[in-house]
Amino acid sequence: MIDFNYYAPTEVVFGKESEEQVASLVRKYGGSKVLVHYGGGSARRSGLLDKILGLLEKDGIEYVTLGGVVPNPRLSKVHEGIELCRMEKVDFILAVGGGSVIDSAKAIGYGVFYNGEVWDIYMGRYTPVECLPIATVLTIPAAGSEMSESSVITNEDGDIKVGYSNDISRPKFAIMNPERTFTLPDFQTSAGVTDMIMHIMERYFSHDDDMTLTDAVAESIMCTMMDCIYEVLKDPENYRYRAQIMWGGSLAHNGLTGCGLTGDWATHQLGHELSGLFDATHGAALAAVWPSWARYVYKNNVSRFVRFAVNVLGVTNDYSDPEGTALRGIEAMEDFYSSIGMPINIEELIGREITDDEIKEMVRKCSRGDTVPQGKFKVLKADDIEAIYRMAR
Ligand code: NZQ
Ligand code: ZN
Repeated sequence: MIDFNYYAPTEVVFGKESEEQVASLVRKYGGSKVLVHYGGGSARRSGLLDKILGLLEKDGIEYVTLGGVVPNPRLSKVHEGIELCRMEKVDFILAVGGGSVIDSAKAIGYGVFYNGEVWDIYMGRYTPVECLPIATVLTIPAAGSEMSESSVITNEDGDIKVGYSNDISRPKFAIMNPERTFTLPDFQTSAGVTDMIMHIMERYFSHDDDMTLTDAVAESIMCTMMDCIYEVLKDPENYRYRAQIMWGGSLAHNGLTGCGLTGDWATHQLGHELSGLFDATHGAALAAVWPSWARYVYKNNVSRFVRFAVNVLGVTNDYSDPEGTALRGIEAMEDFYSSIGMPINIEELIGREITDDEIKEMVRKCSRGDTVPQGKFKVLKADDIEAIYRMAR
């Protein structure tokens, strides 16, 4: 097991009616003037937004609102938020929504303290030392941003989607009421579960050995999510299974399943290019490239893929043919994606064949002109990235 730091400071307030505590939690973490940030309308339609605003008002906490965050959250909205926070002297940001709203909130939180262009931070040109306190009322289990240090923003100028990680943006608290996820469309439920399982897989496919405990935790969460998704798709208002999924999304990305190993993250980088260029849903973009990534890299550590096939997907281990077992695991994963309505190639993701020029553009961005390799399980240069996109087309 390699050395590690495990830092997960977010206070999780989980369960029915948990949003009732929002005002006292904002006060506890020092908020007196709040930006309530939200998305395209689901929180308003469900009544959650009005409930939150009412609770803040009742407690005498001042607030301003900024809605309209879209999936693959845009830099222009971040600029709007920074300006509003400065003008209104906001000292706390409450994100009511999912990963997109939380990530936008984190970017605003950094930007308020930086006199330059906030995109510099995402481009690695400036390291922020301060961030407004962030907290969330989560409405979709998926990205894990409610406990993570990451934020992923899309710059419309060039369709570039890039992530930035810094512990100073980890949310102070996360309110999670599984009932608030009953209204999710099936596609978003499935994309969310795909993303959380992928957060575990990005860490699981590693060459570090001697991490029995971390592997056991990872496999257990993956299997539980796979069982629960079918129940939830059959019965969207089933609290019991929605609750498992909601907690699973946080555990998948709060660092727990990465303790003692080196993560890969290539699938995420390849997926971000698809989301940046085609505005594709994050989880679906991951499903579209993972099978091709897996077939391209599995020979680097066949036994890892065998373990995944057997322990997570229930494939029978053919001891005389480890490669065959590994490949049957990848096929079983594809079947799982298809069974929950996820694409397993780019054509299924974007609804048409991708062009050679589009592949080249994604390769250029993903490899930053062949200067930045991706992944650790197998280090991918521009040629490798291109080969994977071609396999996935
Ligand atoms: O905008 P509204 O109207 O709220 O609709 C949203 C949106 O269309 C809808 N939705 C959310 N809660 C709902 C609901 N609809 C009905 N009922 C509810 N209760 O769902 C759609 C997707 O929302 P979004 O916030 O985009 O989903 P998600 O949580 O999957 O976030 C995706 C973003 O997070 C980034 C992704 O790249 C993507 O941009 N990620 C962030 C990470 C992080 N910060 O740690 C890690 C991840 O790997 C990921 O990259
Ligand atoms: Zn993800």
